[in-house]
Amino acid sequence: MVKALEGVRVLDFGHVQAGPTATQLLAYMGADVIKVELPGRGDITRIQLRDVAGADSLYYTMLNSNKRSIAVNLKSANGKKVIEALARRSDVAVENFGPGVLDRQGFTWERFQELNPRLIYASVKGFGPGPYVDCKAYENVAQCMGGAASTTGWEDGPPTVTGAQIGDSGTGVHLVAGILAALFQRERTGRGQRVEVAMTDAVLNLCRVKMRDQQRLQRGPLGEYPNRVFGDAVPRAGNASGGGQPGSALRCAPGGPNDWVYVIIQPPSWAPLMRLCGREELIEDPRYATPEARLPHIDECFSIVEEWTARKGKFEVMRELNAVDVPCGPILSMKDIYEDRSLYERGYLVELDHPTRGRYVQLGSPINLSDSPVEVKRSPLLGEHTDEILSWLGYGSEEITELHKEGAV
Ligand SMILES: CC(C)(COP(=O)(O)OP(=O)(O)OC[C@H]1O[C@@H](n2cnc3c(N)ncnc32)[C@H](O)[C@@H]1OP(=O)(O)O)[C@@H](O)C(=O)NCCC(=O)NCCS
Repeated sequence: MVKALEGVRVLDFGHVQAGPTATQLLAYMGADVIKVELPGRGDITRIQLRDVAGADSLYYTMLNSNKRSIAVNLKSANGKKVIEALARRSDVAVENFGPGVLDRQGFTWERFQELNPRLIYASVKGFGPGPYVDCKAYENVAQCMGGAASTTGWEDGPPTVTGAQIGDSGTGVHLVAGILAALFQRERTGRGQRVEVAMTDAVLNLCRVKMRDQQRLQRGPLGEYPNRVFGDAVPRAGNASGGGQPGSALRCAPGGPNDWVYVIIQPPSWAPLMRLCGREELIEDPRYATPEARLPHIDECFSIVEEWTARKGKFEVMRELNAVDVPCGPILSMKDIYEDRSLYERGYLVELDHPTRGRYVQLGSPINLSDSPVEVKRSPLLGEHTDEILSWLGYGSEEITELHKEGAV
């Protein structure tokens, strides 16, 4: 079966997480992704957080499935020629180097346009134009400057970063949206274009409900927040729901660190919840009967429900609440998810064999296309496809040997 992006070639200068997230999604959708890596070392994540001595780390393997790897020295004259040949034959180039890195090697947007006017050149940087444009950035820098950290955590605690990699992976997903739109526009114009996403912009985009609340705050306190006192900036809201329906994490039995369930009290949920909790008298009680009446003492409402949830396991609570149409979600540990066989059965978690590290678990594609099923393949070894790609570019075997000898590849 032909894949959605079959025939699309991606010249991938991505490293660490943001770029590789984007190119892995493109690869899952069928693109031929050629990952350019520094000879002898490769993407720095190959050696970061290693769990098997001498083998590629899970950090690398989990972000680089379905790609090919070519080791090329961008700083050598003949390495640059290889990159130029690849750029001529590619549809998309992706990079997330520090500001100016590719420009310094002569690979500016203008140069890419000369090499291939159809090339789409997609970049991730920490910041958009403005005072920080030349600064490097990592995940947590983006979370802190994109509004996530100041609004996450507890009122009396420090700003908190979330485990979801919204700065890196979140930006990579935004980049994919831009690349696909540019590929679609190229069908009509024949021209490539620049696609740029700043990590702080992507994080702020994911935090837009907090920008909503910043403006609401000018007119008075935010009723759905647990906070009693409000200053002039949106406070950290603990586990309060970011939407219009109040929600909270409630304890479950037997009381371990992840024995919790998140319960949302939609307007029609109050009556079935009170029946389950054995508190029918509160259904019509004017202090509790409507969402407006409950809001000023929503903590107390959740405490009433928690008296019930605390006696049950989180999955039992999930079953019982869903039976009466109350939205809820047990808090799942990574172990719960890792051991969930249903995820393997439907191919979202996949077990792969790797030549140096052995078997590992990979995440498949969260995007399902009915005409383009994903076949998840292991990440490449460093330079595994260097010679194959060079001969496809037209280099003869002696030239390839020479390139290796001089360290260009
Ligand atoms: C992530 C980040 C902070 C890492 O910083 P860093 O480790 O100092 O890496 P940089 O990207 O600045 O630079 C990489 C260097 O390796 C060199 N390099 C990388 N691949 C190479 C190759 N194949 N051949 C030769 N040199 C190579 C680059 O030329 C550059 O060297 P230079 O500074 O002498 O020009 C930085 O890349 C960045 O801010 N990226 C944009 C935002 C981003 O994506 N951040 C999140 C990453 S998940």
